Parts: sequence; structure tokens; C-alpha cells
Amino acid sequence: MAPEGTKAERQTLDRFIARYGVGQNEATRAVELAVIGGDWGANGYTTLAQADVLGQVLGLEPGTRLLDLGSGRGWPGLYLAKRHGCTAVLSDLPVEALRAGAARARAEKVSGRVGSVLASARHLPFTPDSFDAIVHTDVLC
Ligand SMILES: C[S@@+](CC[C@H](N)C(=O)[O-])C[C@H]1O[C@@H](n2cnc3c(N)ncnc32)[C@H](O)[C@@H]1O
Repeated sequence: MAPEGTKAERQTLDRFIARYGVGQNEATRAVELAVIGGDWGANGYTTLAQADVLGQVLGLEPGTRLLDLGSGRGWPGLYLAKRHGCTAVLSDLPVEALRAGAARARAEKVSGRVGSVLASARHLPFTPDSFDAIVHTDVLC
């Protein structure tokens, strides 16, 4: 993160770097599947069924440009890109989270339409009208 980040952002980084530094394994996948219905490396409470509602309400389809703010490892933006064929930008502060998301995008063969941007949601480096839809799950907590 840029050194000019706020104290709150530094605290966010400290809190989440450790969490995202631990990769997924068989046990974490099993828990995630049992609790929210997916295994995308979620770090929140949004269920797969709720993510599906988001995709439906936002009308995601091939060509839609989706921004996931505070995406963590890509939940739900990466999942939605895979499911609906839209493009997605995953955006968060800890690089560990974005690396994991990029690796999963490669594994899912969607890296051609899923990008990662390390940035604070306070200062997004995008021009107006860059996106058709924005999601954020468990970020304003
Ligand atoms: C509880 S996690 C949720 C992650 C993901 N959306 C999910 O549901 O699994 C909250 C995320 O918001 C990110 N975050 C918090 N403040 C942020 C900010 N100012 N800019 C960008 N991301 C932020 C954190 O780094 C963290 O990854």
C-alpha cells in the first residue's frame, strides 16, 4: 500500500495480510463449502446463493464490466465472472489476496477477462464509466 494510506487502511492491511497469507487447503475448502456453498476463498459471510442474486440483479453477462471492491481473493467478483462470462476487476489492499485471486482466475481459465488492481477504495485509479456494475461484500464492516 502507498505510504500515504490512512491509519485505518494500515490497520486493515495488518489485519488481513496474515489472513490472506494462509492459503486454502482441504479443510478450509470443506468449511467454506459447508457454510456458504462455495470454495472461492471467501473471507466473509456472503453465501453462494446471495452471490447468485447479485449476478442476477446486476444483469451480468458477457461484455459487462464488473468491479469488485474489497474483493479479497475474488469473492464474489471472480466467481461472478466465471459464472456469467463478464469481465471483472478485483481490487483490494493486501497483495496476497490479489495474488490468490489471480491464481484462481488462471486455474479457472478466466484470467483473460479478470484483472487485479491494488488500490484503496478511497482513491480508485479508474476513469469515469469504466464499469457497468460494482459489488462489495463484507467490506463496509
Ligand atoms: C471481510 S473481507 C471481505 C472480502 C471479500 N469481499 C469476501 O467477501 O470474501 C473485507 C475486505 O475489504 C478490504 N478493504 C477494507 N478496506 C478497504 C479499502 N479502503 N480499500 C480496499 N479494500 C478494503 C479488506 O482488505 C478485505 O479484503
